[in-house]
Parts: sequence; C-alpha cells; structure tokens
Amino acid sequence: MTWTNPLRDERDKRLPRIAGPCSLVIFGVTGDLSRKKLMPAIYDLANRGLLPPGFALTGFARRDWAAEDFGKIVYEAVKQHARTPFRQEVWDRLAEGFRFVPGSFDDDEAFDRLAQTVRELDAQRGTNGNHAFYLSIPPSAFPVVCKQLARSGLAASDGEHWRRVVIEKPFGHDLKSAIELNAIVNDVFPEDAVFRIDHYLGKETVQNILAMRFANQLFEPIWNSHYVDHVQITMAEDIGLGGRAGYYDGIGAARDVIQNHLLQLLAFTAMEEPTSFSAAELRTEKIKVLNATRLVGPLDETTARGQYLGGWQGGEWVPGLKEEEGFNPESKTETYAAITLEVDTRRWAGVPFFLRTGKRLGRRVTEVAVIFKRAPHLPFDATMTEELGQNALVVRVQPDEGITMRFGSKVPGSQMEVRDVTMDFGYGTSFTESSPEAYERLILDVLLGEPSLFPVNAEVERSWEILDPVIEHWAKQEQGPDPYPAGSWGPESANRMLARTGRAWRRP
Ligand code: BG6
Repeated sequence: MTWTNPLRDERDKRLPRIAGPCSLVIFGVTGDLSRKKLMPAIYDLANRGLLPPGFALTGFARRDWAAEDFGKIVYEAVKQHARTPFRQEVWDRLAEGFRFVPGSFDDDEAFDRLAQTVRELDAQRGTNGNHAFYLSIPPSAFPVVCKQLARSGLAASDGEHWRRVVIEKPFGHDLKSAIELNAIVNDVFPEDAVFRIDHYLGKETVQNILAMRFANQLFEPIWNSHYVDHVQITMAEDIGLGGRAGYYDGIGAARDVIQNHLLQLLAFTAMEEPTSFSAAELRTEKIKVLNATRLVGPLDETTARGQYLGGWQGGEWVPGLKEEEGFNPESKTETYAAITLEVDTRRWAGVPFFLRTGKRLGRRVTEVAVIFKRAPHLPFDATMTEELGQNALVVRVQPDEGITMRFGSKVPGSQMEVRDVTMDFGYGTSFTESSPEAYERLILDVLLGEPSLFPVNAEVERSWEILDPVIEHWAKQEQGPDPYPAGSWGPESANRMLARTGRAWRRP
C-alpha cells in the first residue's frame, strides 16, 4: 500500500497552478483592452512562472504587420502596463512564441493561414493541440469569427485536446440579443468551452466576499433581513468617456456595468453557501439568487439615470458627455444609473439592494456596503447618541482594498456619549503579496480550464431579464437622463430614489 503524506498534500494545494502546453490566439489585438490588459497579463503570468515553457501567443488583425511588428506592439504594452517588473530573460522566452496573422474576419484564406500557424505551433512549440481563442472584438463580429473558426477546423476539439473561446462583454444589449448571441457561440463551441469574461470576478476583493462570508462564523448569523436594513453596491468612476463613443453611445451605464459587474456583486453578497466551491455548485447558488432577484417599482421613483455635464474635477475643467469627441450632441445615453432590487428569499425578503454606477463622479471607488438596522433600544440619553449612525460592513473592492466595519463606541470622558468609529482590514497592511490583476487570474483559469469565475449563459440571460424593464422604461421617456456636474455624486433624482425610503447614499 502506498503512503501519502497528508501534510505534503495540503501544501501542494497551495502551490500555484501552472497551465499545461497550450496557446492563445487574440482577435482584436490592436484594441485598448488587448494592449492595456491582456498582453500585460500574459507577460505577468510568464513572469510568475505560470505559463508552460512552449506557450505561444498569436495575434490576428487587419494590419500589414510582420511578426516583429507584433512583437514591438506587445513589448510596448508590457513595458507600459505590466504589473510585475520587466525581466529580459522572461521576455525573450515569451517573445519566441509570438506569431501574427494578418487578415480580416471575412477572409477565408486568412483563417486558413491561422489554422496553419496554430498547427505549426503544435510542432514547433509543443502546444499540443490545446488552443484558446480570445474574442476581444465587438459582438457584431462574433458570428463571422465563430463561423470562420468552425470552417477552418480551429474550433473543433478531437476530444483529447481542448479548444476554448473567451468572450468579452457586452453579451448582447438585452435578453433577446443575448439569447441570439449565445446560440451563435454555442453553435460552434459547447457551453463548457465558452469562457465569458466579467473581469470583476477576477478581482481578489470580489472573491474575498465569499471567503469573508463562508470561512467565518462571525457574519452568517447577522447576514439576513433580521439584522440588515439595506445593501448599497456602488461602482463610481472619475473618468469620462472621451474616446469610447463607438462602444458607449447608445449603450449606457446600466448595460455597461449593472447588467454584469454589479449583479455579480449582488449575487456574491446575497447567495446561499454552496456545498463546495466547484464551478457547478457555485453557479447553482448564483443562478438561484439571481432567479429570486426582482426589480422594485414604480420605476420612475426606484430608478435614476443621469448624464454628466462639464465641471471641475481635480482642479481641471472637463467636458460634458455631449461635448466628448464622437458623441451625438443630442445623446440620451446615461452615464449614471441606479436601480432598486429585492431578493425574494427567506433570508432577504424586504431588504432593498440599491445598485449605482456612474462616470465622472467624485472619485473612483467600488464597494459593497451592508447597512444594519439600528439597535431596537438605546439605553442612552438621545442627545449623547446623535453621532451614532447605523452599523455597517463595507467591502472595499477598489481602490484601497479591504473591509471596514462601522459601529458605535463610547467617547472617552465622564459621560456616556456614543459615536461612530471604524475598524479596518487593509490588504496592503495585512498581506505582503500584491494582488494579481483580474485578467491574470482569468486568463490563467481559461488555460487551466477552470470555469468557476466565468458567468454561464443562464446567469447572463437572467441578468438581462432583471434589467430589461428598466431600459425599456427609460427608452419610453421623452426626457433624457438628468444632468449632473462632473465631479459630483450623480443626479438629484438618485438622492430622491433613496430618500423616499427614508435612506441616503453613503458618501464613499
Ligand atoms: C468595464 C466597463 O467593464 O469596466 C468600463 O466597460 C469601466 O466602462 C471598467 O470603465 C471599469 O473597470 P475597473 O476594473 O477599473 O473597475
């Protein structure tokens, strides 16, 4: 009988997982996402020793580039945006695996050349028939690229070696288009070969919501409608939309952020404990909670939308959306969106979840704030508790990653005066390891075939089902979004939305 050392096994689980032989093909290599996030993440993974030795990266784009030109583009991207220090020997080894195939999406010959390149990589770099295709392209190009991948034989797996497709949001612009898009993708790639990126799920602080809730005994007893008054999920950005008109005009904040990132944050916050952390169990719980999530009406009062005007931000005058390059001067696209949801389960019935997101707000911050009910009785003189708010637990997703707890404490002195104080956990002070970028984690998971952090069809479609009535309601309004000055915290209507329930937004 063989003896295995249980301690050794425990330690092995903590060793970083390294991807097996494989390659990645990126469509849309000239885009922003590819240069700022994907290429740097690939280098960072190589630098951390998490890519296989013969790893190959192929770019496909309508450019007249030689392989060296592509190498230069990746080099610039890595130099400018990589998280980890530049090491020449890592770069040299990685760059040996770069290939570039010029062509347009409707060009059969270009895809045949791509198939040829990928086959050669199997022989030259030992990628072993395992290939991932990253569609960093507009969804309107998905059908043609998927068809080309099928036609050229690139999509089909022989059962032994894998083929995977990675798709970036937006997954459609409403439920109907999402179903159509999913059908197109699933026609070529089976669902277990489809990796949909919601980069928020790659963030350490988002995964930590699950650790906080399910690795501790402390929070579970109070994580329900008996103790929680409401939940505020905020994703605020200080940047504007200059340069993004092509993607953003006509899309807006609700589709861009609420449908995906914020509903995923809600799911992590409100879901029940999965029986294990296998992808299937995690999804089961996420889908269950999304199925129980519904909009609260009347939508005129329980939702708000805004569009930023010019204003002073950080000592600088910035233009309003309508003045941003490329935007329709009549644009009704919202740059701020807020909605009210409830989760109809025994745990959450009656607890509102307020979700908001916006561009050109006061500062960049993403957080989940769980606000607790007031103590039912305060045995203190009312004048001594004026500065006592509601207890709160705030998950700071970014920046300044960590968790804050707010509660009342006695002010030193001879009186029983109680005032809010905070207790803080910060990643920066508690851990020496720095957090990997979301895209590092997600690209590695694609190459490992680890699907836990990728939303499936059912989640995407359910999220649209939740949001569609809001978008339809707004589209019917003659009036556009409410204006708010750049650098503020959004339109007045968003404040009214909470005030009607006797609550107010947190000032993060
Ligand atoms: C993207 C949105 O998904 O997330 C962008 O399309 C937004 O509009 C971005 O700026 C924000 O990401 P992060 O990681 O900086 O919060």
